Amino acid sequence: MADKQIRVGLLTSGGDAPGMNAVIRAVVRTADHFGMQVYGIKAGYEGLFKGEVQPLDPKEVTGIIHKGGTILRTARCLEMMTEEGQERAANILKVLKLDAVVVIGGDGSFKGAQALSKYGVGVIGIPATIDLDMDCTEYTIGFDTAVNTATEAIIRIRDTSSSHERCSVVEVMGRDAGHLATWCGLTGGAEEVLIPEYPMDEDSVIAQILSNRAEGKRHNLIVVAEGVGGSDALAKKIEKTLGIEARATILGHLQRGGIPTALDRMHATVMGYMAAKAIQEGDVNKAVVYRNGRHALIDLAEAIDAKEIYNPELYEITKILAI
Ligand code: F6P
Repeated sequence: MADKQIRVGLLTSGGDAPGMNAVIRAVVRTADHFGMQVYGIKAGYEGLFKGEVQPLDPKEVTGIIHKGGTILRTARCLEMMTEEGQERAANILKVLKLDAVVVIGGDGSFKGAQALSKYGVGVIGIPATIDLDMDCTEYTIGFDTAVNTATEAIIRIRDTSSSHERCSVVEVMGRDAGHLATWCGLTGGAEEVLIPEYPMDEDSVIAQILSNRAEGKRHNLIVVAEGVGGSDALAKKIEKTLGIEARATILGHLQRGGIPTALDRMHATVMGYMAAKAIQEGDVNKAVVYRNGRHALIDLAEAIDAKEIYNPELYEITKILAI
């Protein structure tokens, strides 16, 4: 990729995450610095199939570093999960003369990128999801903002829960992973954190509430991960069994929007810069990750195959502090 102007496709895919716009800005500006032209692909792989591709110039990414969502829009594209779809997407990229593509998203989006690489497209993946459920990296863009947003909501719920001496059951996102729930539980001061990694039966939760009330606690806060679910039924069971007023709140998509925190903007900026620089150096089919306190480029295949378990120590802490 040396003597002609390199043309770089850029897309956001899967669930949006605060900080995606900061990545877009960093990729576009770094690419421009190295004399490459970025083309924004709208609505993820879906937009690619529809040919919704437009040049993205540095001035078009002005004033977006602090904006939630993604100016490119995003989608979960079923067609990209099929071999025919992947071949079609690669052919469209060839027609569009895009030499490389930067894919910003989660595991599913990375798999789409890997499929494109098998057809000779140079790809770079940047991890972005509020779930932190990508085993290749210790940080995914959007996580910190989601933790802060959800924890702030939990603290507000705590106020009213304590005024009314109630039990609050708050459900946070995270798909099949308990990272978001663990962080929100620890930073919101929850008594119990229910996560898919450590299944816990309802009776044990109720027993814990009973024992905490006996110790003098006048309100309770339980954080439930989406992957466990059933927060409404749990609140009803607590009310019926213990005679304590209980309310369930499902935080939902409010956790995915909003101004990205400085931490998210920082990771987004460095990762976006590294992705564009890697393309300029011809170092493609990589993922930008954060490991041991440093950003790094690793092979995309290694990123997809990585297996890192949930940190059990954090869960231990939720148990120790559950009094
Ligand atoms: O992956 C991010 C996430 O917000 C998950 O926590 C959640 O399970 C899912 O996306 C919700 O997806 P959708 O917005 O498509 O309903």
